[in-house]
Parts: sequence; structure tokens; C-alpha cells
Amino acid sequence: TYYRPRPYKNAAVQFKISTPEDFEERRRIVEKTGLNVFFFPAHHIPGCDLLSDSGTTTMTMTQWSQLLLGDEAYGSNEGFFHLKTQMVETFGPSWNQTREHTETLFLFHQGRAAENALFSVFSRMLHKGGSVSPLFSDSLESSLRNTIEEKLSAFPPSERPYFIIPSNSHFDTTEANIGNNNILPLNLPCNEHVHNDEAFSFRGNMNTNALRNLLENEHHRVPLIYLTITNNTGGGQPASMSNIKEVSEIAGEYDIPFFLDACRFAENAWFVQQKESQYQNKSIQDIVWEMFEYADGFHISFKKDGLVNIGGALVIKEGGRMARKHPDLQNRLTDYQILTEGHPTYGGMAGRDLKGLVQGLKTVVNQKYLDHRIRRVEKFGRKLEAYHIPVIKPVGGHAVYMNMDRFFEGTETKDHEFKGIAFTALMLIAGHRLCELGVYAFGKYKNGKEYPPDPRVNFVRGAVPRLMYEDQDLFSAAEAAKVLYDNRDRIPGVEVVYGRDLTLRHFKSRFRFK
Ligand code: F0G
Repeated sequence: TYYRPRPYKNAAVQFKISTPEDFEERRRIVEKTGLNVFFFPAHHIPGCDLLSDSGTTTMTMTQWSQLLLGDEAYGSNEGFFHLKTQMVETFGPSWNQTREHTETLFLFHQGRAAENALFSVFSRMLHKGGSVSPLFSDSLESSLRNTIEEKLSAFPPSERPYFIIPSNSHFDTTEANIGNNNILPLNLPCNEHVHNDEAFSFRGNMNTNALRNLLENEHHRVPLIYLTITNNTGGGQPASMSNIKEVSEIAGEYDIPFFLDACRFAENAWFVQQKESQYQNKSIQDIVWEMFEYADGFHISFKKDGLVNIGGALVIKEGGRMARKHPDLQNRLTDYQILTEGHPTYGGMAGRDLKGLVQGLKTVVNQKYLDHRIRRVEKFGRKLEAYHIPVIKPVGGHAVYMNMDRFFEGTETKDHEFKGIAFTALMLIAGHRLCELGVYAFGKYKNGKEYPPDPRVNFVRGAVPRLMYEDQDLFSAAEAAKVLYDNRDRIPGVEVVYGRDLTLRHFKSRFRFK
């Protein structure tokens, strides 16, 4: 092996620990914060903080310099105009706005606020005619019918949604925002994803057969189709260009708008370039333009591939199916944005943040940046694997997902002991922060019983912040995980002391070691 220099150098550093401390001290804090990684004070983490890749980016010097040039005018600050130009440069000419009075770019303080705005406004527009008969066509595939009917049964009979928004996999906030607005979010991940095919490069694809079957029978119930790139819920797995194109064509056949959840668009483009043969010689920028040509709109959390710490947007393509079919939507979105965030020319963002974002969007499609970024994540995954820790493969763009069912295989382990939570608590004591996304985060406690997520997922995620850590840091986290893996039969279960029956319980609960 040989070492390649990084494509950047450090211009500022942040020392990690503000107070001297050791294992014992961290153990005390872990116990005091109820073994919930969200409550552990970040400044007491001496190793890697892999809780999220969202909003945790290290900004470049160019971005910092732009922050100083921020224009904090209340209306039409300079950064807004720079961003509008940059959005066209980043996402392609089809996102240009020519009609002066109909806004296409809606800024929010983060991704979920954009989701909330879209689904609140859209749902009200869809439902204004009253509800329609909720019966299904006979030729809907039985497995699909069962999935949908089971999901519908979670609603009281009088509130069962009529409309369905399918996706490869909705992120959990997207799913919740759709559900809260009385529309059914439906995940149609590809078979390779469902069957855990490790040789398949595009496990973020949508199952287009299931989508076709749904539309052949129930297209009148589907007002919008989504693809999440990359698919966070499925392990940060990319969707191929051919899948994006096919979904877009299917949507076109039925004249249904097609949107992207574009949080990690540049990382998805990198996988297309590396793994889809006809894109090998294309630049990331060209690939991004093509991906976005297929969409009628998208929402994005700039906290990921915007390379900034805060910000989000909803973008509607002029002349796209959404704009054409729902001509009132943009005006109503503007109203919603004014009521909840701010004037359309800043939305939920400060003028300086808009300028930092413009630079972030320029950097994120840089080939050397992406090569370095995604290979770091992959090397972290390979290191864990070398220590025999089971990880989802291929490793995705932003995170390594460790499979807790296989991690604890062969030990006495019951779901209700939540050993994934115990593992994350012990990793924190060792000095690194991960996050359980498994039987606790996605499971439910009902009528005195625990129900694991269905379909079953039981992961612990190490999400890698952008431009923050190098191999040395990530490998030290892998070594700590190895020590725990080698002693996995001694890892105790945990007891839930607070919050077991709450919604979104993993954010709020407290535990103690058994
Ligand atoms: N969509 C995807 C695919 C996401 O991963 C996220 C956030 C959002 C939407 C919501 O964006 O946080 O800006 O409101 N993912 C973070 C994570 C929280 O840790 O995976 P947001």
C-alpha cells in the first residue's frame, strides 16, 4: 500500500477536550445521561463523534470568508441572488426560473421544514375535494396490497389515508411529515436491498415492478413519487442513473410528478460515476445535471451535501409536472413559508449562511473531495470488517451500518435487552459516539409488549461528518468497536427507565445497564 496526500490541508483546528477526563469520568456522564447518546455532551468526546453526518461538516476557508461577507438585509439579500445562480449551476439549466412572480426556490432552516411545508400545503390541495372511496383494485399484487393494508390499519377507520406517496425508502422525517398530513408513505425498496445482496452496487434503487403494479391499479391514488438519493434508511446506498431515469419515465407515463430527496446528491453521483459503466468518463457535475433533469422537483437538507451546518430547500421545476398540474402550489408554498420561516428571499436562513452555502455547493461536486470523502467511509467499513464486525455491504456514501443481529449472534440476546443501545453506550465510554437505528429506534412498545420493526432492521450507525476525520480517527473508533466485539458475550443488556412507550422514543428515552 502507499499513502496518497489528502486533497486539502488544515487551516484551523479544534482541540477536542475542554476538560481532562478518563474512562471513569465518561462512564459517570454516560450513566447520568441515561445511556442516551443524544444527551451526552459533545465536548466530552475525545474520539470520533459519528452521531450524524448532518450539519456537522467542517467548512472550508473559502466558506468562512464568505460568512464574513454576509448581507443581512431583511429583503432580497445579496446571498439569495448568488444562491439562485448557484442552484442553476449545480443542478442544471432546467432549474432556471424565468417567470418573475412565481418562486421556484423555497428556503427553510433545514430539510424537514421543507418536507413539512410541501406535504402540508400539497395535502390540503389534494384533499379539498373531500375523500374518495378507499377500495383497491383486484389486480393489485397481493404482497403489495397486504403491505398497504397493514399500514392503513394503523389509522382509525375514518382517518385512513386515500393518497399514497411511494419511494425507494422515505427518510423517517419525510415519512412522518407525509403521514401527519394524512397521506400514506410507502417504501418500495429493490429486491437486492430486501434480500441483502452484497454484490449489488445500487441497493438504493426502487423496485420498479412494484411501482408499475401500484400505478397500473391505483395511479389515481398516487399524487407524487419520490426517490431518496442516497437512501439513508437503507444504509446510505445509492440509486443508479438507470433507476432514476426509469422511475421518472414511469411517472411520466401516468403524468405524476417525480421528486428527489436530494440530501446526498453529490455522493449519489459519485457512485453512478464509479459503478455505472457508461458514466465512468463523465464529470460529477454532468452526472448531477442529468440526475436532476429527470425530476420535477426536489427537497434537500443542505446540512449534508450543501457542506454547511444549517439550511434546507424545496425546489419546484418551472414547466415540470408539479408546476403544471398544481399551478397554485408555488403561491401557497410562499404563503406557508412566510408564516413559518420568513420572507422567500431568506426563508429560514441568515444571509451569511446563504453565501457559505453557495461555496459549499461548488466544493461538493469536486472530484478530489468526493474521492477522498467516500473512500474514507469505505476504509472505515473495511477496517471494521477486518475485525469481523458485520457491516452492511457495499458500504454507503455517508455512514457505516453495523448489523446488531449478527454482531450478537451466538450470545444470549433478547430484543428487549436492546444490546445495540448497550453497545453505543459502551462505545461512548470508550470515547466514540455512534447511534442505534434498530429494534429500539424503530421498534414499538404496545399493550405491555415490544414489537420489533417490520421489516426487521437492527443496526448501529457510524455516520461520518464531512471533512472532519481522517483514517487515524476512524480506525481508532474501529479498534474500540473490536474490543467490544471480541467481548460481546459480556456486554450486558439495558433496561428502559424512561420513555419506552413514547413516539420517536430513541431521542427521548433513558436507560440503565442491567
Ligand atoms: N432526508 C434524508 C435522506 C435525511 O437523511 C435527512 C436527515 C432529512 C431528509 C431531514 O433533513 O435533518 O435537515 O431536517 N438526516 C439526518 C441523519 C438527521 O442523521 O441522517 P434535516
